[in-house]
Parts: sequence; structure tokens; C-alpha cells
Amino acid sequence: MPGPVLGVETSCDDTGLGLVMAGRLLCHKVRGQPAHEATLGVVPQVAAACHLEALDSLLAELLEEAKVALGDLAGVGVTTGPGLIGCLAVGSSWALGLATGLGVPTVGVNHLEAHVNALRVCSPPPEFPLLVLLASGGHTALIAWDGEGPPRTLCTTRDDAAGEALDKVARVLGLGFPGGAKLERLAAAGDDMAVPFPLPMRGRSGFSFSGLKTAGRRAAATAAPADLAASFQRAVCRHLLAQTEREAAARRWAGLGVVGGVAANGVLRRGLMALGKRHGLPVHLPPADLATDNGGMVALAAERALAAGRLVPVDELRPRWPLEMA
Ligand code: KG4
Ligand code: ZN
Repeated sequence: MPGPVLGVETSCDDTGLGLVMAGRLLCHKVRGQPAHEATLGVVPQVAAACHLEALDSLLAELLEEAKVALGDLAGVGVTTGPGLIGCLAVGSSWALGLATGLGVPTVGVNHLEAHVNALRVCSPPPEFPLLVLLASGGHTALIAWDGEGPPRTLCTTRDDAAGEALDKVARVLGLGFPGGAKLERLAAAGDDMAVPFPLPMRGRSGFSFSGLKTAGRRAAATAAPADLAASFQRAVCRHLLAQTEREAAARRWAGLGVVGGVAANGVLRRGLMALGKRHGLPVHLPPADLATDNGGMVALAAERALAAGRLVPVDELRPRWPLEMA
């Protein structure tokens, strides 16, 4: 691409824009949506309205900070799935309008593929094949990535996502939404062995958090809040780590990567570092602002897709879009 590519992320409750040129992230900006704190969860119509309100001013801030002129853009990539349909529609129509006005190409980007692409900014850069753990509020999966083609899902969750389970228990503890980070803070004062939780999917591949979530909510009636937070956090991380180790041992990898909001969790990060050490694998953790939803990761994936001619139409929204369909 002869100029910077803009990435647009509006699939859930963060409005993100990012600029990438020749594989290098120039700048990115995320605007969160505090409106969802009051409702203790994302209301899709409210999220879509917030994206619409944020996009123009966020673009102006991004271009100003990156010292890039609108007319310099060489292409626009936008998340077209998976995600909330109304939110995807806002992002894709805004991106299409912008690109049409500028006369530059557009590309639809898979949100999961975008998350994985955030690992490109790690230093040192990852080597391939890479085993990637994606753990966010909406997704939990183990992904194989060769760095060139689309990443491939190895296993996913049967029910809830890891972040969703953490958020639900945080909510019962009165910590607000999203509660993962607050639960981690409360957990620091608790005993992580105080409340026993089972290890889901023992001996099987894949994730399941709904049983843990129910057990966690039930335990809230009797356990001390900090003990429950610590024990539940341990149980969620233990499950994530056990399944990651299962895949790490099953075949040859050049490294291990972690993306998604839950990757900010200290217990998970320390567990992954130890896992990497046991298996002789380098562990790649992108900075927190690129591990959570953002436009930089979309731009990183979009620039590659445009260069490879992998032109997914932006007006074809895919609220459910497994990586295999990319
Ligand atoms: O990737 P993300 O920003 O958005 C989604 O695509 O969902 O992830 C948000 C999730 C929420 O469930 C939030 O509670 C969780 O990441 N999270 C954490 C931490 N920080 C954010 N979970 C555990 N520990 C944290 N420090
Ligand atoms: Zn995400």
C-alpha cells in the first residue's frame, strides 16, 4: 500500500481507529462507552449510537496525532463480524462512506483475526507457527497462526466467554461492569483456595465457563467477597491455562501469544509465562491497549488483506463469523 491504511473497530462497546503503514502501527485511538456501566451490561442500540457519535471526532484526533492528512489514506479496513449487528452496521457504513469519498479500497476484517494481528507489534516479533489464546468478554478460543494466511481455530468455548464469566461474578459482588479488572483488584486481598471450584473440560479439548459462572454466583451467598474473587479468578485462569497447555503439548509451536481483555490479568499472565518456560516457548503479550478491542489491530489485518487481494466486502455483515469462513 502506498499510504496509511485506516482500521475501524465498532463490533461491541469500544470505538477504535488505527493507522498502519508498511506493517508499522503509526497511531491508534479508542473511545470507551461509559453508558454501559449504568446498565451493568452492553445495550446494543446504545452502543451503536455511541459509535456513530464518536467516529468523526475520533478520526480527527487520530489524523491530528499521527500527522496524516485524510487524503493520504490508501485504504480502509473495518470489522464486519463477529459482533453486534447494529454496531457492525455503523462501522461498515461509516467506513464505506469515507472510502468511497476518498476513492480508496475497503476490506471487511474478521474481529478474531484482527485480535491475533495485534501480536505483530510485540517486541521481539513472534515467530510462527504461533499458538494464540484469545480471551475476552465475547470470545474464548485457542488459535493456530502461521503469520501469513488467516488464523485457524483449534477450539473455542461451548458456552460463555472467560471475560463474561468474570464479569458476571464481579456483578454479583457489586463491582459494576465490566468487572474483570475490579475483580482482580479485590482478589489481591483474598485467599484463592478458600472456595473450591472444579476444573471444566478435564481430559477434553475446548472451554466451558457456564458451570463455573453458576458456581461462582452461588458461592457469593456465603463466601467472603475477596476470597470469592481470588478463588474464582484462579478457577478461570486455571481452566484457560490447562487448555492452553494441552494444545502447547499436542504439537510443535514456535511461540505462544495472548490477546483479549482478560490477557491483562496478572494471574493469567504469570501462569502463561510459567507455561512457556515449561515448554521452552517464548510468550508474546501485546500492550494492554492493543490486547483489548482497538482499531490498530484492524488496520494491521486490513493492510495485509488489501496487499494480498483478500477483499472481503464491507457491506456484508457477519454477526457470526468463524475464522474458517474468512
Ligand atoms: O477484549 P475486550 O476489551 O472486549 C471484548 O471483546 O470483550 O475484553 C473485555 C473483557 C471483559 O470481560 C473484562 O472484564 C475483561 O476483559 N478484563 C479482565 C481484566 N481486564 C479486562 N479480566 C480479568 N482481569 C483483568 N485485569
Ligand atoms: Zn474483541
